[in-house]
Amino acid sequence: MSMVVRILSLGWVMMMIMSITNVADADISSTLLENIDEINKEGPYLGIVVPKLKFLLQFSNFLPHATIPQLDYAGRRFRVGTMENRKVIAVVTGNSMLNSGLATQLLLNLFKIEGVLHYGVAGNANPEIQIGDVTIPHYWAHTGLWNWQRFGDGPDDELAFESNGDYTRKYGYLKFSDYEVGVLNGKNSDNLLNNVWYQPEEIYSTEGEPENRQHIFWVPINKHYYSLAKKLEDIVLERCVNSTTCLPQTPKVVRVRSGVSANMLVDNAAYRDFLHTKFKATPIDMESAAVALVCRQQKTPFIVIRAISDLASGSSSIESSTFSSLATQNAVKVARKFIALSLEEMLTLDAAQ
Ligand SMILES: *[C@@H]1O[C@H](CO)[C@@H](O)[C@H](O)[C@H]1NC(C)=O
Repeated sequence: MSMVVRILSLGWVMMMIMSITNVADADISSTLLENIDEINKEGPYLGIVVPKLKFLLQFSNFLPHATIPQLDYAGRRFRVGTMENRKVIAVVTGNSMLNSGLATQLLLNLFKIEGVLHYGVAGNANPEIQIGDVTIPHYWAHTGLWNWQRFGDGPDDELAFESNGDYTRKYGYLKFSDYEVGVLNGKNSDNLLNNVWYQPEEIYSTEGEPENRQHIFWVPINKHYYSLAKKLEDIVLERCVNSTTCLPQTPKVVRVRSGVSANMLVDNAAYRDFLHTKFKATPIDMESAAVALVCRQQKTPFIVIRAISDLASGSSSIESSTFSSLATQNAVKVARKFIALSLEEMLTLDAAQ
């Protein structure tokens, strides 16, 4: 993307922010623009997107850039440096879909980024996966965009606004009455909440006509990164927090079919099982699908690495808190290896040219 386009799209983001907050934080300062320009001359970079600062702090050999180690913009800090000798720009998203989408969008519009690595921890919906395991899903979906059906209608009835293409019955629904505890006349009694139907996201590509919407539910990670990730499955992970507290089995790195994200913390076994049965979901989190959707729209390759830190109500909170540091450690370990592998490969490609 040219600098002009970058600045223009940034202008729009800022106008949007201003109109919401009515704060006259009108311009991106010329010093900041110069620094961005300087940094971009040394690019491209691997973008590192993490939900919390601890995932960067745990990364012991993150070496800051000698003259411009960080750039602050729109409440975000973009950290420039190297990880495993690879040039990176890292940003902390904060919690949930809006924050992670925004942070990723800013990263991609301000800087010269060739690919995005997103890593962190997650809940788990897959009975074959344990706390401490590190998952790399092939697909991500946002499972929090719903069409809530009126009481009395069922799967054969059209949804509100379905006929003009805004909504669809393609991805299925959750029927609340299936989870009714009360029983009436020998069968579960229906309740007024009826069905919610899962909806694909509306995306706008950077290529082609602006404002031309497309729908997407499953966002695949980059094909090439996914095959590179196969090599991560050999990593030996930590099993013990200290000399006395260990997981029952050694955790593993696994590529799985899919992960799902939404603006909800799932600590509910019934919903967790539904997410696995319906969407074959393994990691459940609140950010990855937003990162995926933004990367998809910006045509930037991405991969997500999420270590399981809790079983989404399948584990006790004591268990989760005991092993959450181990999960973080394992996520960082796999992320490090991915960065090293991608650099190795980049150098091989360069040498071949
Ligand atoms: C090991 O970690 C557990 C859980 O954090 C703690 O309860 C225990 O005291 C620790 N043991 C040692 C030897 O540090």
